[in-house]
Amino acid sequence: MKSSLFITFILFFTTVSAVKEYLFKKCSQSGFCHRNRHFAQAVESDPEYQSPYSIDVSSLSFADDSITGIVKKVHGLVDVDFPFKISVIEGNFRFQLDEKLNSDVVDTVKHVNKQRYNETETFAFKQNVAYHPLTGDQLEDKLVLKYGDDHQVELEFYPIRFSFLYQNKVQLTVNDKQFLNLEHRRKEREGSTSELLSQETSFDMFQDSFADSSKDTLPLGPESMAIDFNFINFTHVYGIPEHADSLLLKHTRSKDKEPYRLYNVDIFEYDLDSRLAMYGSIPFLLGIKSEVTVGVYWINSADTYIDIEYSSSNTLSHWMSENGLLDFIIIIEPTPYDANSQYGKISGNAALPALFSLGYHQCRWNYNDQKDVLEVHKKFDTYKIPYDTIWLDIEYTDEKKYFTWKKEAFPNPGKMMQKLDQTGRNLVVIIDPHLKDGYSVSEEFITKKLVMKDNSNQAFYGHCWPGKSVWIDTTNPDATPAWAGHFAWKSPFLAQAANVHIWNDMNEPSVFSGPETVAPKDNIHFNNWEHRSVHNLYGMSYHQATYNAMKARLKHSNRQRPFVLTRSYFTGSQRTAAMWTGDNMSKWSYLQASIPMVLTHNIVNMPFSGADVGGFFGDPSSELLTRWYQTGLFYPFFRGHAHIDSPRREPWVPGEPYTSIIRDAIKLRYVLLPVFYTGFYHASETGRPVMKPMFYDALDDTNTYKIDDQFMVGDSGILAKPITEKGGNVSSIYIPQGQIYYDFFNGEISSQVFTSGYVERPVELTDIPMLLKGGSIIPLKTRYRRSSKLMKNDPYTLVIALDENGQAKGDLYIDDGESFSYQNGEKSYIGFQAVSEGISASVSVSEEFSRQIESVTVEKIVIVGVKGEISAVIIEQEGKKWNGKVSEKDSVTTIKNPKVKINSDWEIKFEYKQGVDHDEL
Ligand code: NOJ
Repeated sequence: MKSSLFITFILFFTTVSAVKEYLFKKCSQSGFCHRNRHFAQAVESDPEYQSPYSIDVSSLSFADDSITGIVKKVHGLVDVDFPFKISVIEGNFRFQLDEKLNSDVVDTVKHVNKQRYNETETFAFKQNVAYHPLTGDQLEDKLVLKYGDDHQVELEFYPIRFSFLYQNKVQLTVNDKQFLNLEHRRKEREGSTSELLSQETSFDMFQDSFADSSKDTLPLGPESMAIDFNFINFTHVYGIPEHADSLLLKHTRSKDKEPYRLYNVDIFEYDLDSRLAMYGSIPFLLGIKSEVTVGVYWINSADTYIDIEYSSSNTLSHWMSENGLLDFIIIIEPTPYDANSQYGKISGNAALPALFSLGYHQCRWNYNDQKDVLEVHKKFDTYKIPYDTIWLDIEYTDEKKYFTWKKEAFPNPGKMMQKLDQTGRNLVVIIDPHLKDGYSVSEEFITKKLVMKDNSNQAFYGHCWPGKSVWIDTTNPDATPAWAGHFAWKSPFLAQAANVHIWNDMNEPSVFSGPETVAPKDNIHFNNWEHRSVHNLYGMSYHQATYNAMKARLKHSNRQRPFVLTRSYFTGSQRTAAMWTGDNMSKWSYLQASIPMVLTHNIVNMPFSGADVGGFFGDPSSELLTRWYQTGLFYPFFRGHAHIDSPRREPWVPGEPYTSIIRDAIKLRYVLLPVFYTGFYHASETGRPVMKPMFYDALDDTNTYKIDDQFMVGDSGILAKPITEKGGNVSSIYIPQGQIYYDFFNGEISSQVFTSGYVERPVELTDIPMLLKGGSIIPLKTRYRRSSKLMKNDPYTLVIALDENGQAKGDLYIDDGESFSYQNGEKSYIGFQAVSEGISASVSVSEEFSRQIESVTVEKIVIVGVKGEISAVIIEQEGKKWNGKVSEKDSVTTIKNPKVKINSDWEIKFEYKQGVDHDEL
């Protein structure tokens, strides 16, 4: 019986060719979403609507850092109290509302924690977020609260309505439409519908159903929370991944359209242009306009739907969550950069990745055995293609029992790891959260009561890759140390190797036998919380446990930074993991869709993201595969991956000319590694995107607001627009108004300048369309090495693109790329500046780290945009002066081997050809 079930699942998961849409709930099939959409429509169409909600003025209480009170709901004969709190978290207003429980209503419910779930922030926020004092006045009909000079909120008592002001202008109203709907706890009984307001429906209030005929027992009855946010004078909103959709969110608020859904599911062969839920959820929505950015950060980990409605001047969003608290933070700042920085102060910034993880990753389901792994590894060198990491998917295990090896195929994993290590290569192995029934690890977790439970409070069993399985409950703090035991330095599984890292897949958690392919909502977790309350954060709790386990393990080595890839994620995941966009297809449309999907993650502070290069399902044509590498090299996470049924497609498989072109693309990624690493440094400090939408640097040019097929690489000034169409032979790039760019196709600078508007150019298959913004200085490493580790002491090349005033700026961040010693100051930050008189580098570095990079130099400087002709350069560093060699060809100036070291300040002065006064040019 066991094996036949398993076969059914395998067939089910390998033969279909499009998403089984019917498996996933539409809003109209989901009790709480249906009820809230209905409620909103009823309120909107009733001019006489009298909201049952008001703020009880007598309940207000003022403290230094918060204001508390009660929202009253008058519901038939019952009054329900919802205590609330307003505070300022890291400089942003926060509103939290809970329900005061009526014990009579909930005391019959067994096994289940009766509180509304209030621990989302424990997982979502970084540690030690700060609350700030707020000042304010209570007027007759409202509260007026201020934070600093710029931020103000007014809260009207009846009808309840918030206005958030920035510099005295209203930017966002909340509950302006009166969509506030707090479904209070009540008992199921005959005639309960008579308790409904005229705007409410009783649709699926006490039992929800699924397409696979399973039932959700809803032991606590209806408990959803919904409200509207209206962005004033905004017509562009972004964020709330994960969806296979455009960067700019779509209008959804009409009967025939689906709202965006946040509910982590194993979406399997997802469709494009879709608002369906996917593997991860980040409930952060950003409104952008030229002078202000507004962010709505919704702190709730339950099933959530968001309707978007664009009108001629405003944008409305209607948020509906199945249960939990009504808890939101409003971020209002001048630019999206500032909004990212504010959000990062609460949820944390992306971890600074180990340098190797920014190199190229080679994966497939599956490399069959040790020999296969080492052959693929060797071929990269034979074909002179750099790569950093090879991956093992589920087939390396003994019958999908994680922490074991299939012995016949991998007789000596330690030796394999050592072999990879010799050229700085790493191994990533997959470890999923389902634990096969009847082996030591699942037994350990069942005995320790660290597994998810079913609705009768017994260990939950479901089906996944190993067949019958249990799931680790990483929402339980005791699960992490138990999990860490399996990653211990001395555990035989990872053979005391420091070059092995972890892939966490299927952590939505995917349950083949579960409703909507995931765990039943009425399952039970630590502290008796229902799964429905923690669903969207479960995946994050799991990859965080893995990260912590790996961090403890790697303390035994000098390579301490763990790399964890996760498929499921939530707000806060950026602190410990990278993500990828799951099971895409080998089709041009999926290549195109990957760009907006990765950009969306970057604007919600989850920069370490990418899509399977080549497409997971299918067999890409050689042209598609080549174009995908030329795009993928710009994904912050760059990995080729393929389904077990897909033919092999390592870079040498398609043959010439493709192999050489793919090699060039991968090599370009390595050339750009200093730019990516510096980008990640900024992301880790202030939340800046690594793959960045055009509008970030062109807020006054609204033409950029819809662009999602071209992008910038961090703040470097590199603009890329890879070719993503079959047979594409023209590159058409939009240059924002008032900006100038130089031709930087394929990473080669030329003096050709482009200004505002579309620039067209014919392209070949070999071409990767790139430009470099005037005013930029970028550091590159151009020598071919087998892996990033072997590039460590390689010299830098600087490319300088001067702006119209003959000036440019850039930077470079360096540390050892693998340990945490940068946190103790072992790092270097270099600011480069160019003006018409010359170039200078200003270096900030610790003594110890300065010694480590003593031998690293700049080997070449290439400059475009020079006015006049530089005839000589005088170089100065550490009190010494010497002459450099300068030449010019096609208006590109090159300083050959200036011999400056990277670890201290230097300066290069220009002398111009006589008779030319460059200041007047
Ligand atoms: C699903 C993942 O999305 C895919 O990348 C992986 O290859 C398979 N699981 C098998 O582990």
